[in-house]
Amino acid sequence: MNLSIIGTGYVGLVTGACFAKLGHTITCVDIDPEKVQKINNSVSPIYEEGLESLLLTYKDKISATSDYQTALMNTSITFICVGTPSMKNGTIDLSYLKEATKQIATILKNKNSWHLVVVKSTVLPGTTHNIVLPLLEQYSGKKVGIDIGLAMNPEFLKEGVAIKDFLEPDRIVIGFNDEKSRKTLGELYKKFSCPIVDTSLSAAEMIKYASNAFLATKISFINEIGNLCKKLGVDTYDVATGMGLDKRIGRAFLDSGIGWGGSCFPKDIDALIDWAKEIKEHTRIIESTKAVNTDQPLRLVEILKKHLPTLKGKTIGVLGLAFKPNTDDIRDSRAIPIIKELLRNGAHIKAYDPQAMNNFKTLYPTIDYCSTASEVLSADAILITTKWKEFTTLNYQGKIVIDGRKLEQAKNAKIYEGVCW
Ligand code: UDX
Repeated sequence: MNLSIIGTGYVGLVTGACFAKLGHTITCVDIDPEKVQKINNSVSPIYEEGLESLLLTYKDKISATSDYQTALMNTSITFICVGTPSMKNGTIDLSYLKEATKQIATILKNKNSWHLVVVKSTVLPGTTHNIVLPLLEQYSGKKVGIDIGLAMNPEFLKEGVAIKDFLEPDRIVIGFNDEKSRKTLGELYKKFSCPIVDTSLSAAEMIKYASNAFLATKISFINEIGNLCKKLGVDTYDVATGMGLDKRIGRAFLDSGIGWGGSCFPKDIDALIDWAKEIKEHTRIIESTKAVNTDQPLRLVEILKKHLPTLKGKTIGVLGLAFKPNTDDIRDSRAIPIIKELLRNGAHIKAYDPQAMNNFKTLYPTIDYCSTASEVLSADAILITTKWKEFTTLNYQGKIVIDGRKLEQAKNAKIYEGVCW
């Protein structure tokens, strides 16, 4: 099939590249000419393991443009993968989604054949039906469900492993407005062996939010248990092992530490809390999930102060700036509140991250960025904030290490303590 993808962030570009691998022809649309040029030169504008080689391998199946007309006239299905970022008060910014929808509808006004529009961006329940559908009809002058198909197909991609998550999903969720849309999207995904959940547009949107909110809650839960374990002198990872063997619980996402960051959990949790208030509902559990996560990173600094009572003038090493390994993404990284607190205490920072230093410099240009991980070891004490593989080979002997991410190899330090172990 010929597919168009609006938005070439890690969701849009991974979706396009993987569908190209599955034999489809992809036209990506982005308003950023630099991104368009990079994609047409098989260069990935983002860091995502394996993405660039897919762009190279399937360069005859993937093209990019800034022109919606070109993209839509030559394709029958359009995936909207634009960002829905958080605004200051936690609500999500739908401006990119609305603009993309208007642009699509304007082209469909003059297109004679049926066209399926699929929302893949993370949007609150009700958005596709109450905002995207009316805009499509208003700007195309056509009827959704007759001339235009509409569906909602959320992504469950984890950064750093997004390609694997796309090609080997646990499930595919299809929210559909009409039978033809359901069948068309079902046909597109027919080669996948996982269950396909056919449901309403709003249920599909809620499955995405509820899944992310639950995963974040699972992490905050084990961090709360971890804070109790810390007082008990118990290793929370031993507790997680015992819990995780219960099939109803499962071991995944029970890694205690300094908490969750990224471009999704924080944004989705804030959006859900804010939306609930609008519909006069409480989200006490989800609000607590957020509160635990806000406090968790500062516990690492409190533990550090046990060993270095005055941080003023001390040099503290920070190993890891990305919100998780194998990405350059620092959005809501737990290193951010930690570095802020260290600076507030008058400490001098020596930081290193294999991928994320350039991004982090936009936030903290004045701290020292080391060119190797080993350089960080000359600090008075070292904090482990992202579990990069390359940190497992460092020599921590004779050092003070306060660990936020359970790096076993650091245990041979002179003084070693973990946030929840
Ligand atoms: C998440 C969801 O997993 C994915 O399904 C959704 O589509 C997008 O959001 P992502 O944010 O890329 O994916 O990363 P993820 O691997 O989920 O980690 C999120 C954060 O939780 C990271 O900061 C990670 O360090 C932290 N985490 C994860 C824990 O602290 N403990 C865990 O057990 C797992």
